[in-house]
Amino acid sequence: MDTSYDMFIETEVPEHELIISRTNLSGIITYANDTFAAISGYEVGELIGKPHNIVRHPDMPRSIFKDLWETLERRESWQGIVKNRRKDNGYYWVHADVSGVYKDGKLTEYKSLRAPVDTKTKIKMQNYYDVLRKREEKSSRVVLYLTDEQLEMVSGILK
Ligand SMILES: Cc1cc2nc3c(=O)[nH]c(=O)nc-3n(C[C@H](O)[C@H](O)[C@H](O)COP(=O)(O)O)c2cc1C
Repeated sequence: MDTSYDMFIETEVPEHELIISRTNLSGIITYANDTFAAISGYEVGELIGKPHNIVRHPDMPRSIFKDLWETLERRESWQGIVKNRRKDNGYYWVHADVSGVYKDGKLTEYKSLRAPVDTKTKIKMQNYYDVLRKREEKSSRVVLYLTDEQLEMVSGILK
């Protein structure tokens, strides 16, 4: 059970900066700019060579990434609102634009550019993703305030 409170701390993506990354065709990060490192809480060197799911947040439904990869396989670009997890368990929301990088007409890599998301959209998407996860994966995100006694009972049940 993850009980770290850092998971509730949001990092805002600044208006004037772009988070940029590139991956190989299997989603392994080949390039990360300094803004990506700063916002995700990693060093650039920690990101390169890792699968892009290093920043995957458990609130994100699997079906969103299935749609992303199916879209890329059709050689189309994908746009979506993504909640990502920082190294310290905090989170940040991005509007991602993912597309292919072509050399001499051949698909060689993927690239992603991300921009900030406004508060209204974050709330709407959080609720939508909660519904999707419940519907598709039978899983729910629960935040409860409990007395020590109640916590003991709940921990016993969840063990
Ligand atoms: C260029 C590119 C950028 C991506 N950016 C993210 C991202 O910011 N966050 C994320 O969770 N997944 C991102 N993905 C998708 C991941 O590769 C992965 O599919 C996703 O995190 C789900 O993890 P899983 O495939 O292990 O289930 C990106 C993929 C590509 C090709």
